Amino acid sequence: MLVLGIETTCDETAAAVVRRDDTGLGEILSNVVLSQIAEHAAFGGVVPEIAARAHVEVLDRVIATAMKEAKTEFSALAGIAAAAGPGLIGGVIVGLTTAKAIALVAEKPLVAVNHLEAHALTGRLTDGASFPFCLFLASGGHTQIVAVLDVGRYERLGTTLDDAIGEAFDKTGKLLGLPYPGGPEVERRATQGDGARFTLPRPMLGRAEPDFSLSGLKTALRLEAEKIAPVSDQDVADLCASFQQAIVDVVSDRVSAGLRLFRERYGGPTALVAAGGVAANQAIRRALNRVAIASGTVLIVPPPALCTDNGAMIAWAGAERLARGMTDTLAASPRARWPLDMRVSTAGR
Ligand code: KG4
Ligand code: ZN
Repeated sequence: MLVLGIETTCDETAAAVVRRDDTGLGEILSNVVLSQIAEHAAFGGVVPEIAARAHVEVLDRVIATAMKEAKTEFSALAGIAAAAGPGLIGGVIVGLTTAKAIALVAEKPLVAVNHLEAHALTGRLTDGASFPFCLFLASGGHTQIVAVLDVGRYERLGTTLDDAIGEAFDKTGKLLGLPYPGGPEVERRATQGDGARFTLPRPMLGRAEPDFSLSGLKTALRLEAEKIAPVSDQDVADLCASFQQAIVDVVSDRVSAGLRLFRERYGGPTALVAAGGVAANQAIRRALNRVAIASGTVLIVPPPALCTDNGAMIAWAGAERLARGMTDTLAASPRARWPLDMRVSTAGR
């Protein structure tokens, strides 16, 4: 089955065509991602109104390119999937409404995909992860440890009490005067820095519940930077390395706690699966690999381009749902908030 996926929940306008065969194996036929980084860079963050307008301007072209690269046409698709949330509501409306129009005209089923579910299921597309697995989802807006029991069956084990990990990276970058988005830039600078130079806190370490709290770490970093201002390039590299080391320690401890809780409740997971933009970070990937091995499981991390927002993950989640007969009506609503573990009947959407 061929599925078109549309992603517009944040600052990437993306569309992709994915194939799913009868045995559940996936293949990406096209994956077009147009980033709006340039539009938002001057503001140091995503401006919702600018994002929505940019999606309107380019989405038609992005979809046409994805269809062309996949060498297919609407009539050959099994369904049209769009991220219906959670995210910036203006962008979500643009993507979902476009998907509805195509579904209506091409007479194909619509699948309103939860963006977080799409991140969660990416490890099945790239590595054939089987249920149940333990998901560590870390992006700009979310930090969660989730038991993924089946398509549509998610139990949240832990989350952040304040900032998301990607948000902490982005705020650190902004504080140190680095270009937006901060995450990849902080990682780049950290490779030239000394991670032991600054003593930063490791919030929540040792707690049984696998939750995160990161706002204290961010504040501590700001105080260290202020103490030595004005900062040199080497100071910035050392601050980035110290920050990233603190995050790595926190992630290792919290994900270990998550895996322990998973085992208590559901038995051993088939894998630890990482997802979301932060999973593109090499130091975090290495730490997750150590954690997985220590707890007797394996790590699955999609390649970086499939960790950050993309259309292939939406198309794949759509295919997984379609294969189980889960479709949505054209009345499906865009949602700014949509927790992964919220049970909703598809009929009511
Ligand atoms: O999943 P994603 O593309 O969008 C959301 O759904 O949020 O994640 C974007 C987030 C941003 O906060 C970005 O700074 C962070 O992921 N990120 C990284 C890296 N690459 C992206 N954080 C740390 N290291 C990276 N290499
Ligand atoms: Zn995302």
